[in-house]
Amino acid sequence: MERRRITPFARPSEGSANVPGSKSHTNRVLLCAALADGASRISGALFADDTEAMLEAVRALGAKTVIVEDEEILEINGVGKPPRFGNLTVDFRSSGTTSRFLIPVIAAGHGTAVVDGSEQLRSRPFGEQLAALNALGAQISSLNDSDELPLEIHARGVKGGEIEVSGEASSQFISGLLMAAPLFEEGLTLKVPGRLVSRPYVDLTVEVMSDFGVFVEMPDDSTFVVRPQTYAPSNILIEPDASAASYFFAAAAITGGTARVEGLNAASLQGDIEFVRVLEKLGAKVVWDDAYIQVEGRGLSGGRFDLSDFSDTAQTLASVAAFADSEIEITGVGFIRAKETNRIAALVSELTKCGVEVSETNDGLKITPNKWLLRGAEIDTYEDHRMAMSMSLIGLRVPGLEIRDPSCVEKTFPSFYESLEMLRPKPQKRPDLLAVIAIDGPAGSGKSTVAKQLARELRLPNFDTGAMYRAVAAAALRANVHPSDLDGISAIAQTAEIAIGERIFIDGSDATEEIRSPEVNQLVSVVAATSSVRKVLVPRQRKWATDLGGGVMEGRDIGTKVFPDATFKVFLTAELAIRARRRFDESSGVSFEDVLSDLKRRDHVDSTRSDSPLEVAPGALIFDSSRLSTEEVVGELAIIFDTLIEP
Ligand code: DC
Repeated sequence: MERRRITPFARPSEGSANVPGSKSHTNRVLLCAALADGASRISGALFADDTEAMLEAVRALGAKTVIVEDEEILEINGVGKPPRFGNLTVDFRSSGTTSRFLIPVIAAGHGTAVVDGSEQLRSRPFGEQLAALNALGAQISSLNDSDELPLEIHARGVKGGEIEVSGEASSQFISGLLMAAPLFEEGLTLKVPGRLVSRPYVDLTVEVMSDFGVFVEMPDDSTFVVRPQTYAPSNILIEPDASAASYFFAAAAITGGTARVEGLNAASLQGDIEFVRVLEKLGAKVVWDDAYIQVEGRGLSGGRFDLSDFSDTAQTLASVAAFADSEIEITGVGFIRAKETNRIAALVSELTKCGVEVSETNDGLKITPNKWLLRGAEIDTYEDHRMAMSMSLIGLRVPGLEIRDPSCVEKTFPSFYESLEMLRPKPQKRPDLLAVIAIDGPAGSGKSTVAKQLARELRLPNFDTGAMYRAVAAAALRANVHPSDLDGISAIAQTAEIAIGERIFIDGSDATEEIRSPEVNQLVSVVAATSSVRKVLVPRQRKWATDLGGGVMEGRDIGTKVFPDATFKVFLTAELAIRARRRFDESSGVSFEDVLSDLKRRDHVDSTRSDSPLEVAPGALIFDSSRLSTEEVVGELAIIFDTLIEP
C-alpha cells in the first residue's frame, strides 16, 4: 500500500495555505443549478471525487455542464423541471452528500433508476430517507432487501405533503428532502422534532436554495415549508472549504505558528468556521479580517467542546488535543460513527498508536495529552480523507509519522499535502541563520550522544549544560558544602572556575569523571533546582552560544528559558523503562530497580521544580528515541534541520 512520510516543520508554521472550494457549498450549488431553468455560472467550485460524483449525476439527469477557464468557472444549464430519464444508472462513488441529495430529486423525476456507490457508501445508512420518501409517495426499494445501496427508484413524481424526520441521524437527509421539495406536486412540510445535528448545514442548504430563487419558510425552529416552485439560474462564488481550512488553522495551533486562509471570514455560511472559535478558546490569537482568517498559535489549554454542529472538525481537534496542556473532551458527535468510517473508533486506534491517551465516550472522545509520550507511527486511514488530513498534523511536530493510503484525500482535497507544505517555514541562507539547536529532555533520552553527533554532522559547536550543573555540584562537594546550604552552593556557582569542553575542568583540575559520580548524581538535582544557581549559569550558557555564532545545546530548559527563540527546538524523549535500561547498561554495581526508581525521582524533581521545570517547549519537535539508534535520530534531525537552509 502507498505511504507518505510527513516531514515535521523545524519551526512554527508561516504564510497562507490554498484551500479548495467548499465541498458542501459546491454540491448544493451544483444540484440547484442543475435543476434551475437556465444557465448559471459558478466560480471557485471544488473539483474532487465527491463533487465529480455530483457533476456526473446531474449530467445524467440532463443538465449541461461546461468547464470554462481551467476549472475556475463552471457553467451549468439546468433542466428547469423534474428530470425525465429512461433507464438510468447512477454511481454516487463514496459521496454521502451526492447520494442523499440526489435520491429525492431522482424520485421526483420520471423514469427508472438504479443508484449505487462504493463499498464504503453501501455500508452507510439510507433507511430513514427511504421511509420518508416512500411515505411522501415515492417508490424506492433496496435491491438487497436492506436499508442500503443499491436502490431501485421507480420515479413517477413525488406527491409530497407533511412528514416528520428525526434530525439525529444525518442532516444530509434533511438537506436532500428540502432541495427536492420544490419539485414535489404538493411541496413539503418537514418537521424535525428534537435536536437537529449539524444545523448549520441545513442553514447552508436553505441559503443556497434562496440564492437560486427558492424560498423555504420556517414558521418555527423545527418546521420547514417548501411550496412547489422552479429554481432560477444564478451566478455563485463558492467559499473556500471551512472544514479543509481547519487543518491549516490547527497546524498553526500545533506548531505555535501562523496560518492564513484567504476568502473566509466570520460571516461564512459554513458551520465549520466555528472550529476557529474553539482554537481561540484554547489560546490561539485569531485575526478575523473581511478577506481572510489568520490563526496564530499561542499555547493550547484544555476544555470541553460540543462539536455537534461542526463535527467534520472533530478529527482535527483530536489531533490538536494531543499537544494541549490539559484534557480536551469532544462531545455531541456520536453520529460520526456512521461517516466514511467509524471516526471515533478510528481516532482512538490511531491516536493510541501515537502515544496519546484517548478514550471513547458515548457521544465523543476524551484526550488526556502527555507530550512526553508522543511518537510517530504508521497511520491507517480507513478510506477516510479526514483521517489522513487530521493525523498528518501530528507529524508536523512528531518525526516518523507515515500516512497509509495518503491519496484518500482526493475525495475532497486532492492538493492537501501541497497546501500543507505552503505553511512550512521558508528556508534561509546558512550564514544569515544564528543556528541554535536546543535539545531538551529527561535523563536517559539520549540527549548527550545525539547532541554530540548532530553537532559534528552539522559542523556546529556542542554544549552540555547538564555538565555545568554537575560541575557546580562537584565543586560544592569538594568544598564540603552541605546539600541544605543553598547560599553556599550558589556562592560556589559564582566563584568556581568551570570550563566545559571535551573534558571538564573545575578550578583548573580535570573533573570529567568526578561529575558523573553517584555523589554528584545525588546532589545535582538540588543544585539545578536552586534559582540563584540558575541565575548565574543561564547567562553564561547564552553568552557561550552567541559568542560562537550558534551551536547545539542540550539540557532541560534550553528551548523554554535559555533560548526560547532557538532556531530549532527538540524535546528528546523515550519510554521510562527504555531510559532506565540505557542507564543501567552504562552503570555498574547498581540494580535495575534502583536505576529505575532514581530516574523516576529525577523526572519528578526536574519537571515539578518551580524554576525552569523540564517541559516541552512551545513548538518543539517531540522525538521518541525508544526504538531508534543514535544514528537514526541524528539522521532524522539533520534532515529536518536542513529544511531551514536554502540549498
Ligand atoms: O543531563 P544531566 O543528567 O547531565 O543533567 C544533570 C542535572 O542538571 C539534572 O538534574 C538536570 C539538571 N539540568 C538542568 O536543570 N538544566 C539544564 N539545562 C541541564 C541540566
